[in-house]
Amino acid sequence: MFKLFLFCVLCSGAYAFNHGQALIDFNAYVEKFNKSYSSAAERNNANYYFNYHSNQIASHNALADRNASSYRVKVNQFSDIRLKTFAARLPQAVYPTTFGNSTPVPPNEIAPLQYDMLAELGIKVTARDQGTVCSSSWAYAAATSIQILNAIQTLEAVPLNNSAQALIDCAGMGTGCSTQVPQTAFDYLTQTDAVLLNEEEYAANNSLNHQGMCVPKLATSSIKLDSYGTIEDGDDDLLKRYVASEIPVIVEYNPATFGFMHYSSGVYVPPVRATASSSQFLVVVGYGHDTNSNLDYWLCLNSFGTEWGEQGFIKIVRSSTQPIAKRAVFPNSLGASTSTTP
Ligand SMILES: *[C@@H]1O[C@H](CO)[C@@H](O)[C@H](O)[C@H]1NC(C)=O
Ligand SMILES: *[C@@H]1O[C@H](CO)[C@@H](O)[C@H](O)[C@H]1NC(C)=O
Ligand SMILES: *[C@@H]1O[C@H](CO)[C@@H](O)[C@H](O)[C@H]1NC(C)=O
Ligand SMILES: *[C@@H]1O[C@H](CO)[C@@H](O)[C@H](O)[C@H]1NC(C)=O
Repeated sequence: MFKLFLFCVLCSGAYAFNHGQALIDFNAYVEKFNKSYSSAAERNNANYYFNYHSNQIASHNALADRNASSYRVKVNQFSDIRLKTFAARLPQAVYPTTFGNSTPVPPNEIAPLQYDMLAELGIKVTARDQGTVCSSSWAYAAATSIQILNAIQTLEAVPLNNSAQALIDCAGMGTGCSTQVPQTAFDYLTQTDAVLLNEEEYAANNSLNHQGMCVPKLATSSIKLDSYGTIEDGDDDLLKRYVASEIPVIVEYNPATFGFMHYSSGVYVPPVRATASSSQFLVVVGYGHDTNSNLDYWLCLNSFGTEWGEQGFIKIVRSSTQPIAKRAVFPNSLGASTSTTP
């Protein structure tokens, strides 16, 4: 406590710890984000990081006001934990040594200058919230990419949410809340007779910090993944052509920066050197050019809820020096199935 106090005084000066206006803001934060802390010490710690981040956010946005940064940041569900904790809760993905066959359909030869598959086809997909204790973006990205592909193929304007929880519990192999990867979910869906369940059939619980028990459920929908494809690391041209072919592509991204953690709007440009390595799986649904910053970007759907970023989406700089295609994988073709259990 004394150390924290000292640190706060030395670093900021602008915020008094546990005092005055900052305390009011923190109470509002606790209420808005439905936070609960198990002890006074934990709450004080959260308050400290909330104040610290509020300060950093104000400084960063002052840069953005002067066009010295291409993106803005804001307080969100992660603002009460330190960056190191955030990074640790999203541990680096671990890939199995073998995967099923990847059999990609060929994409369009030519991609337009900009494309947003959801806007173009009038499909509304709401970003879901993986919570702050289970690193499950692999399952959310797998479920959501199939949800989007199915909506595109059936012209369903507001698709039902596919259950990520069913994948966490049934395909997680013990690491469903830590280091699992989307391809494992795709193998599970292509190699077994499992169909995609929706969230009404298999409920989400994002306050659980470990994978739950796989509960067999009756499925009413019959979305079946027939095959998936992969893209070589760094091949952003191919990634772009797949996205332009109305195929949502999952990429692995390192979220362990202050900017990503608190991203609010604009074109996010990662620092050249990240301080830690973590994994967050994003679904690339489009690309374009931002006139404010004069930067090209990838439009990606995250699973941090709608309060984070631009309604849950992030624009990430699109540049040959920082390619985004990393462990890229995508649902390829879907088919109907009569199977009823996950
Ligand atoms: C707030 O959190 C409690 C438990 O932590 C949960 O039962 C409740 O559903 C949450 N409410 C909202 C609006 O998220
Ligand atoms: C999908 O989930 C999001 C976030 O939980 C929710 O806001 C949205 O209404 C859901 N969509 C449908 C079609 O139920
Ligand atoms: C979700 O998981 C938490 C933590 O185990 C548990 O306390 C809670 O009851 C669960 N909620 C639901 C709706 O199952
Ligand atoms: C912001 O800066 C970029 C270059 O860093 C420039 O291309 C762009 O035009 C600027 N935007 C505005 C609104 O001044």
